[in-house]
Amino acid sequence: MKKFLDLISEEMQSAFEAAGYQADLGKVTLSNRPDLCEYQCNGAMAGARQYRKAPIMIANEVAEKLKESMVFSEVTAVPPGFLNLKVTESVIKDYLQGMCGAEKYGLQMPEQPKKIIIDYGGPNVAKSLHVGHLRPAIIGESIKRICRYAGHEVLGDIHMGDWGLQMGLIITELKKRHPELPYFDENYQGEYPVEAPFTITELGEIYPTASAKSKEDAAYKAEAMEATHKLQNGERGYRALWKHIMNVSVEDLKRNYSNLEVEFDLWKGESDVQDLIPNMVDKMKKGGYAYESDGALVVDVKEETDTKEMPPCIILKSDGAALYNTTDLATIMDRMDKYQPNKMIYVTDKRQNLYFEQIFRCARKTGLVKPETELLHIGFGTMNGKGGKPFKTREGGVMSLESLICEINEEMYRKITENRAMSEEEAKEISGIVALSAVKYGDLSNQASKDYIFDIDRFTSFEGDTGPYILYTIVRIKSILHKYFEQGTGQKDTDTAGCVSVLKDDGTLDPAALKTAQSPSEKALMLELTRFHAMIESAYEEAAPHKICAYIYDLANAFNHFYHETKILTQEDKVKQTGWIALLMLTRDVLVDCIDLLGFSSPEKM
Ligand code: ARG
Repeated sequence: MKKFLDLISEEMQSAFEAAGYQADLGKVTLSNRPDLCEYQCNGAMAGARQYRKAPIMIANEVAEKLKESMVFSEVTAVPPGFLNLKVTESVIKDYLQGMCGAEKYGLQMPEQPKKIIIDYGGPNVAKSLHVGHLRPAIIGESIKRICRYAGHEVLGDIHMGDWGLQMGLIITELKKRHPELPYFDENYQGEYPVEAPFTITELGEIYPTASAKSKEDAAYKAEAMEATHKLQNGERGYRALWKHIMNVSVEDLKRNYSNLEVEFDLWKGESDVQDLIPNMVDKMKKGGYAYESDGALVVDVKEETDTKEMPPCIILKSDGAALYNTTDLATIMDRMDKYQPNKMIYVTDKRQNLYFEQIFRCARKTGLVKPETELLHIGFGTMNGKGGKPFKTREGGVMSLESLICEINEEMYRKITENRAMSEEEAKEISGIVALSAVKYGDLSNQASKDYIFDIDRFTSFEGDTGPYILYTIVRIKSILHKYFEQGTGQKDTDTAGCVSVLKDDGTLDPAALKTAQSPSEKALMLELTRFHAMIESAYEEAAPHKICAYIYDLANAFNHFYHETKILTQEDKVKQTGWIALLMLTRDVLVDCIDLLGFSSPEKM
């Protein structure tokens, strides 16, 4: 379907044309003055100079042409030359009927779907997830879902940090604790045990211990670096240990991410591309892009138009070791080879802005990607505590993701059970769902690049711009619909106008059930629904989940306003009632789809 704004713009464009002006002046936009009108058109002002005419005269002439319009119920020319507009109830109704009957409400699908890889999450293996991992997971997951909904083919890649010093540290510490294990016996020829010599809990303790020791003890650190080096050069026992570390941590990561309803299609990591590095480096050298500078191998990525400093991209350190850069570049090469994506999106802390700029330029310059391959970095801001400083535990430490989620679940549980009687099991399940909405909406409702304050009290509130408020609204609609269909009236209802019931024989909403708005609040709700397509389009184009939040907040408010003014279930006029029920169903469906794009779901009651 066309976007509603485009549809009504067409009507305006025809009017400009009919009045003797260029059609493209008739662009309609949302009103700046919602108190006066629903939409506006500033084309008369834009055309004044070209036609050497006072804008108000043009506006008047255009308004004249729209007297009989089926699209605009009110067209007012106001000085100096604005056209203030209201649309007819019937054009809205027709549009919503079209939405009801169509897949994804008639959202236009791309003619050529893109293949998109989203690189997000990026946890380092063997360290437990902490609050710092929340944003990349939440934002990346939502962007992934939005791209998919917009009709593209999308792969989410976790891109684990699984090849660095942390592995050497763990190996070193294990060796100190259990020197007798076969992994440390260089002469060992047999098969290694299938079972890992540690559990995830132990692993969670081994890493921080080793990391702390290495900071105090230079010899220990040297040992860990040596172990890392050996691992990377293929030492058999270390590789076997590495596999154990991977298996144990990936299982733990999967559990953690799935608690957040975050799912990856590709569980790849830095280790996966190590073998590709020599070849890539070779090509960069042969192509004349990479050269030696102070012993290191670098590629210049500076451009003439740069106003800020743009250091060269270091490909290999002077000791020949690969870096974070090298791995990211090799990963780009690997992705191009295996998946031929049109676009790659990276979701990381915005402090990596410059880093990704370097990587992208280097990938382009050295021909790792095609000229038309889009590379996009979405840098997010810091999640701060109430004091405005990065979020910490009460003791000032880095909070594990699990404790954070636990804390919010408990707070939600307390709120949910406060005034409601339900079984403990049910309360737990519901509070888990609502808590996730609190965390995700709290994060996603801010523009990603901005810092925000993680405020549990505000996020878990049932009022205001919060996840629980949105869920509360959905649950309210579900409950009205439940009651309506329980009453039996909804099943096979015929209204006086003919044979229109809310549902078709297959149980889906019958678009014909929707009626024209009867009241301003109903019209306002319907108008919100017409904005869906434009909103999804810009959320996709700008990779901006906050646009969905802003939209569903408006939609929920419009619904609640309508609900408070309308007696739906006791309404005797069945035509009206059927229309409202249909409107409720559409509103519910749109809200439910939108929260799915944000990465959470709604309970049946709360
Ligand atoms: N593992 C990295 C870290 O913990 C983040 C990875 C981000 N993604 C990437 N392709 N560089 O800092």
